Amino acid sequence: VPAPPGEGGVCDPAALARAVISARSAGRRIGAVIVTLPDNPTGQLARPGTVRALARVAAEHDLVIISDEIYRELVYQRSPFASPAQFAPERTVVTTAPSKSLALGGWRLGVARMPDGQPGGDLRERLLGVGSEIWSAAAGPIQEAAALAFREPPEIANRIRRSRRLHATVCRAVAARFGAAGLAVPAPQAAFYCYPDFAPWRDRLASRHGVTTGAALAGHLLHRYGMAVLPASAFGEDASVLRLRVATGLLYGETAEQQERALSAPDPLRLPWIAAALARLEDILADLAPR
Ligand SMILES: Cc1ncc(COP(=O)(O)O)c(C=O)c1O
Repeated sequence: VPAPPGEGGVCDPAALARAVISARSAGRRIGAVIVTLPDNPTGQLARPGTVRALARVAAEHDLVIISDEIYRELVYQRSPFASPAQFAPERTVVTTAPSKSLALGGWRLGVARMPDGQPGGDLRERLLGVGSEIWSAAAGPIQEAAALAFREPPEIANRIRRSRRLHATVCRAVAARFGAAGLAVPAPQAAFYCYPDFAPWRDRLASRHGVTTGAALAGHLLHRYGMAVLPASAFGEDASVLRLRVATGLLYGETAEQQERALSAPDPLRLPWIAAALARLEDILADLAPR
Protein backbone atom coordinates (compact mmCIF):
# COMPACT_ATOMS: atom_id res chain seq x y z
CA VAL A 1 0.00 0.00 0.00
CA PRO A 2 1.69 3.27 -1.07
CA ALA A 3 2.35 6.22 1.23
CA PRO A 4 0.39 9.45 0.69
CA PRO A 5 2.17 11.86 -1.71
CA GLY A 6 5.00 13.76 -0.02
CA GLU A 7 5.20 11.29 2.84
CA GLY A 8 7.13 8.08 3.32
CA GLY A 9 7.08 5.15 5.69
CA VAL A 10 3.37 5.12 6.57
CA CYS A 11 0.88 3.75 4.07
CA ASP A 12 -2.18 5.74 3.07
CA PRO A 13 -4.71 4.87 5.81
CA ALA A 14 -7.79 4.77 3.56
CA ALA A 15 -5.96 2.62 1.01
CA LEU A 16 -4.83 0.34 3.84
CA ALA A 17 -8.44 -0.17 4.97
CA ARG A 18 -9.47 -1.07 1.41
CA ALA A 19 -6.51 -3.44 1.02
CA VAL A 20 -7.28 -5.24 4.30
CA ILE A 21 -10.96 -5.68 3.41
CA SER A 22 -10.12 -6.99 -0.03
CA ALA A 23 -7.37 -9.36 1.21
CA ARG A 24 -9.58 -10.75 3.96
CA SER A 25 -12.47 -11.27 1.59
CA ALA A 26 -10.04 -13.28 -0.57
CA GLY A 27 -9.36 -15.47 2.46
CA ARG A 28 -6.00 -14.04 3.52
CA ARG A 29 -5.12 -13.57 7.20
CA ILE A 30 -3.99 -10.00 7.80
CA GLY A 31 -2.85 -9.29 11.35
CA ALA A 32 -0.38 -6.41 11.31
CA VAL A 33 0.85 -3.33 9.50
CA ILE A 34 4.47 -2.19 9.57
CA VAL A 35 5.35 1.52 9.43
CA THR A 36 8.71 3.29 9.53
CA LEU A 37 8.91 6.63 11.34
CA PRO A 38 11.07 8.21 9.94
CA ASP A 39 11.51 6.32 6.73
CA ASN A 40 14.21 4.52 4.80
CA PRO A 41 14.56 5.03 1.78
CA THR A 42 12.84 8.41 1.47
CA GLY A 43 14.27 10.19 4.54
CA GLN A 44 10.73 11.46 5.15
CA LEU A 45 8.62 11.61 8.30
CA ALA A 46 4.87 10.96 8.03
CA ARG A 47 2.58 13.73 9.30
CA PRO A 48 0.94 13.27 12.71
CA GLY A 49 -2.52 13.38 11.07
CA THR A 50 -1.58 10.43 8.86
CA VAL A 51 -0.28 8.47 11.84
CA ARG A 52 -3.47 9.18 13.80
CA ALA A 53 -5.64 8.05 10.85
CA LEU A 54 -3.54 4.90 10.47
CA ALA A 55 -4.05 4.10 14.17
CA ARG A 56 -7.81 4.50 13.70
CA VAL A 57 -7.83 2.11 10.73
CA ALA A 58 -5.73 -0.40 12.70
CA ALA A 59 -8.24 -0.30 15.57
CA GLU A 60 -11.23 -0.65 13.23
CA HIS A 61 -9.67 -3.65 11.49
CA ASP A 62 -7.95 -5.16 14.52
CA LEU A 63 -4.38 -4.86 13.24
CA VAL A 64 -1.22 -4.80 15.35
CA ILE A 65 0.96 -1.84 14.33
CA ILE A 66 4.68 -2.49 14.24
CA SER A 67 6.27 0.94 14.33
CA ASP A 68 9.91 0.85 13.28
CA GLU A 69 11.36 3.96 14.95
CA ILE A 70 15.03 3.14 14.43
CA TYR A 71 15.70 6.64 12.98
CA ARG A 72 13.63 8.53 15.54
CA GLU A 73 16.66 10.21 17.13
CA LEU A 74 17.74 11.42 13.69
CA VAL A 75 14.84 13.77 12.86
CA TYR A 76 16.45 17.06 11.80
CA GLN A 77 13.86 19.62 12.77
CA ARG A 78 11.97 19.81 16.00
CA SER A 79 8.92 18.94 13.90
CA PRO A 80 6.17 17.14 15.83
CA PHE A 81 6.92 13.44 15.99
CA ALA A 82 3.85 11.26 16.31
CA SER A 83 4.12 7.55 17.04
CA PRO A 84 1.13 5.27 16.61
CA ALA A 85 1.88 4.28 20.23
CA GLN A 86 0.32 7.64 21.21
CA PHE A 87 -2.95 6.95 19.39
CA ALA A 88 -3.27 3.18 19.74
CA PRO A 89 -1.00 2.15 22.64
CA GLU A 90 -2.87 -1.12 23.19
CA ARG A 91 -1.91 -2.44 19.73
CA THR A 92 1.43 -0.79 18.87
CA VAL A 93 4.83 -2.47 19.08
CA VAL A 94 7.70 0.02 18.78
CA THR A 95 11.00 -1.32 17.49
CA THR A 96 14.45 0.20 17.43
CA ALA A 97 18.16 -0.70 17.54
CA PRO A 98 21.53 0.93 18.23
CA SER A 99 22.66 0.59 14.60
CA LYS A 100 21.54 4.00 13.28
CA SER A 101 21.65 6.88 15.76
CA LEU A 102 24.50 5.18 17.65
CA ALA A 103 26.19 3.98 14.44
CA LEU A 104 26.68 0.48 15.89
CA GLY A 105 25.91 -1.27 12.62
CA GLY A 106 27.55 -4.60 13.35
CA TRP A 107 26.04 -4.96 16.80
CA ARG A 108 23.21 -7.39 16.26
CA LEU A 109 20.69 -6.16 18.76
CA GLY A 110 17.11 -5.03 18.31
CA VAL A 111 14.53 -3.80 20.79
CA ALA A 112 10.76 -4.26 20.68
CA ARG A 113 8.59 -2.40 23.16
CA MET A 114 5.34 -4.30 23.61
CA PRO A 115 1.96 -2.82 24.51
CA ASP A 116 1.08 -2.90 28.22
CA GLY A 117 -1.60 -5.28 29.43
CA GLN A 118 -2.81 -8.66 28.32
CA PRO A 119 -2.63 -8.57 24.50
CA GLY A 120 0.88 -7.08 24.71
CA GLY A 121 1.91 -9.73 27.27
CA ASP A 122 0.64 -12.53 25.01
CA LEU A 123 2.46 -11.06 22.04
CA ARG A 124 5.65 -10.84 24.09
CA GLU A 125 5.44 -14.51 25.11
CA ARG A 126 4.92 -15.58 21.51
CA LEU A 127 7.76 -13.36 20.27
CA LEU A 128 10.13 -14.77 22.89
CA GLY A 129 9.10 -18.27 21.85
CA VAL A 130 9.93 -17.57 18.21
CA GLY A 131 13.10 -15.63 19.12
CA SER A 132 14.47 -18.36 21.36
CA GLU A 133 14.37 -20.73 18.37
CA ILE A 134 15.95 -18.26 15.93
CA TRP A 135 18.49 -15.99 17.54
CA SER A 136 18.64 -17.30 21.10
CA ALA A 137 20.11 -14.16 22.76
CA ALA A 138 22.19 -11.10 22.01
CA ALA A 139 25.76 -11.34 23.33
CA GLY A 140 26.07 -10.11 26.94
CA PRO A 141 28.52 -7.23 26.29
CA ILE A 142 26.27 -5.91 23.51
CA GLN A 143 23.27 -6.03 25.86
CA GLU A 144 25.25 -4.06 28.47
CA ALA A 145 26.32 -1.44 25.91
CA ALA A 146 22.76 -1.05 24.62
CA ALA A 147 21.32 -0.76 28.15
CA LEU A 148 23.82 2.03 28.84
CA ALA A 149 23.04 3.83 25.56
CA PHE A 150 19.26 3.61 25.99
CA ARG A 151 19.59 5.29 29.41
CA GLU A 152 20.77 8.30 27.36
CA PRO A 153 23.73 9.57 29.42
CA PRO A 154 24.77 13.13 28.46
CA GLU A 155 27.90 12.13 26.52
CA ILE A 156 25.91 9.77 24.29
CA ALA A 157 23.00 12.22 23.89
CA ASN A 158 25.56 14.85 22.88
CA ARG A 159 27.14 12.58 20.31
CA ILE A 160 23.77 11.74 18.80
CA ARG A 161 22.99 15.47 18.62
CA ARG A 162 26.24 16.08 16.72
CA SER A 163 25.61 13.13 14.38
CA ARG A 164 22.10 14.40 13.67
CA ARG A 165 23.54 17.78 12.73
CA LEU A 166 26.16 16.21 10.45
CA HIS A 167 23.59 13.98 8.73
CA ALA A 168 21.24 16.95 8.23
CA THR A 169 23.95 19.21 6.81
CA VAL A 170 25.43 16.69 4.39
CA CYS A 171 22.10 15.16 3.38
CA ARG A 172 20.61 18.55 2.55
CA ALA A 173 23.74 19.45 0.57
CA VAL A 174 23.54 16.19 -1.40
CA ALA A 175 19.83 16.69 -2.08
CA ALA A 176 20.56 20.25 -3.22
CA ARG A 177 23.05 18.88 -5.81
CA PHE A 178 20.39 16.59 -7.28
CA GLY A 179 17.84 19.43 -7.24
CA ALA A 180 20.26 21.85 -8.95
CA ALA A 181 20.85 19.26 -11.67
CA GLY A 182 17.11 19.31 -12.46
CA LEU A 183 15.96 16.16 -10.64
CA ALA A 184 13.02 15.97 -8.25
CA VAL A 185 14.17 15.14 -4.73
CA PRO A 186 12.10 15.39 -1.54
CA ALA A 187 13.73 17.59 1.12
CA PRO A 188 15.38 15.16 3.56
CA GLN A 189 13.75 15.35 6.99
CA ALA A 190 15.57 12.61 8.88
CA ALA A 191 18.16 9.82 8.83
CA PHE A 192 20.96 9.91 6.24
CA TYR A 193 19.18 9.29 2.99
CA CYS A 194 17.87 11.20 0.04
CA TYR A 195 15.72 9.79 -2.71
CA PRO A 196 16.13 11.61 -6.05
CA ASP A 197 14.06 10.69 -9.08
CA PHE A 198 15.87 10.46 -12.43
CA ALA A 199 12.58 10.29 -14.38
CA PRO A 200 13.24 13.64 -16.16
CA TRP A 201 16.36 12.06 -17.70
CA ARG A 202 14.63 8.83 -18.74
CA ASP A 203 14.87 9.38 -22.52
CA ARG A 204 18.52 10.33 -22.48
CA LEU A 205 19.43 7.49 -20.10
CA ALA A 206 17.71 5.01 -22.43
CA SER A 207 19.05 6.34 -25.72
CA ARG A 208 22.58 7.08 -24.63
CA HIS A 209 23.27 4.39 -22.02
CA GLY A 210 20.58 1.76 -22.59
CA VAL A 211 19.37 2.35 -19.03
CA THR A 212 15.63 1.75 -18.60
CA THR A 213 15.29 0.47 -15.03
CA GLY A 214 16.29 1.68 -11.60
CA ALA A 215 18.57 -1.34 -11.15
CA ALA A 216 20.35 -0.61 -14.45
CA LEU A 217 20.79 3.03 -13.42
CA ALA A 218 22.30 1.96 -10.08
CA GLY A 219 24.60 -0.44 -11.98
CA HIS A 220 25.63 2.31 -14.39
CA LEU A 221 26.48 4.71 -11.55
CA LEU A 222 28.55 2.02 -9.85
CA HIS A 223 30.50 0.82 -12.88
CA ARG A 224 31.05 4.14 -14.60
CA TYR A 225 31.56 6.42 -11.61
CA GLY A 226 32.11 4.18 -8.57
CA MET A 227 28.98 5.60 -6.94
CA ALA A 228 27.01 3.04 -4.92
CA VAL A 229 23.26 3.55 -4.50
CA LEU A 230 20.17 1.35 -4.23
CA PRO A 231 17.35 1.34 -6.79
CA ALA A 232 13.74 1.94 -5.71
CA SER A 233 12.92 -1.65 -6.72
CA ALA A 234 14.96 -2.79 -3.69
CA PHE A 235 12.23 -1.12 -1.60
CA GLY A 236 9.27 -2.59 -3.47
CA GLU A 237 8.78 0.01 -6.19
CA ASP A 238 8.31 -0.97 -9.82
CA ALA A 239 11.47 -1.95 -11.75
CA SER A 240 10.98 0.96 -14.18
CA VAL A 241 11.01 3.59 -11.40
CA LEU A 242 14.23 5.64 -11.63
CA ARG A 243 14.36 6.75 -7.99
CA LEU A 244 17.56 5.93 -6.14
CA ARG A 245 18.27 5.68 -2.43
CA VAL A 246 21.44 7.65 -1.77
CA ALA A 247 23.08 7.26 1.66
CA THR A 248 25.55 9.87 2.90
CA GLY A 249 27.47 7.92 5.57
CA LEU A 250 30.57 7.22 3.46
CA LEU A 251 31.08 10.91 2.68
CA TYR A 252 32.02 11.82 6.26
CA GLY A 253 35.54 10.51 5.96
CA GLU A 254 37.57 7.38 5.34
CA THR A 255 39.40 7.33 8.66
CA ALA A 256 38.12 7.54 12.21
CA GLU A 257 40.03 10.80 12.55
CA GLN A 258 38.29 12.39 9.55
CA GLN A 259 34.92 11.18 10.81
CA GLU A 260 35.54 12.70 14.25
CA ARG A 261 36.51 15.98 12.62
CA ALA A 262 33.34 15.90 10.54
CA LEU A 263 31.31 15.43 13.73
CA SER A 264 32.88 18.47 15.39
CA ALA A 265 33.36 20.83 12.45
CA PRO A 266 31.34 24.06 12.61
CA ASP A 267 30.75 23.70 8.86
CA PRO A 268 31.40 20.12 7.74
CA LEU A 269 30.83 21.07 4.10
CA ARG A 270 34.12 22.98 4.15
CA LEU A 271 36.17 19.94 5.10
CA PRO A 272 38.22 19.03 2.01
CA TRP A 273 37.03 15.40 1.76
CA ILE A 274 33.34 16.31 2.08
CA ALA A 275 33.71 19.24 -0.33
CA ALA A 276 35.49 16.90 -2.78
CA ALA A 277 32.71 14.31 -2.53
CA LEU A 278 30.08 16.97 -3.26
CA ALA A 279 32.09 18.30 -6.19
CA ARG A 280 32.43 14.75 -7.52
CA LEU A 281 28.64 14.31 -7.30
CA GLU A 282 28.17 17.55 -9.27
CA ASP A 283 30.56 16.25 -11.96
CA ILE A 284 28.77 12.90 -12.19
CA LEU A 285 25.39 14.59 -12.55
CA ALA A 286 26.75 17.05 -15.15
CA ASP A 287 28.15 14.13 -17.14
CA LEU A 288 24.85 12.23 -17.05
CA ALA A 289 22.49 15.15 -17.65
CA PRO A 290 20.80 15.64 -21.02
CA ARG A 291 22.35 18.46 -22.98
C1 LIG B 1 13.89 1.25 8.77
C2 LIG B 1 14.95 0.26 9.18
N1 LIG B 1 14.68 -0.62 10.16
C3 LIG B 1 15.59 -1.53 10.56
C4 LIG B 1 16.83 -1.60 9.97
C5 LIG B 1 17.79 -2.68 10.44
O1 LIG B 1 18.84 -2.21 11.11
P1 LIG B 1 19.95 -3.22 11.75
O2 LIG B 1 21.22 -2.87 11.08
O3 LIG B 1 19.96 -2.89 13.22
O4 LIG B 1 19.52 -4.61 11.48
C6 LIG B 1 17.16 -0.72 8.94
C7 LIG B 1 18.49 -0.79 8.30
O5 LIG B 1 18.78 -0.20 7.29
C8 LIG B 1 16.20 0.25 8.54
O6 LIG B 1 16.45 1.14 7.54
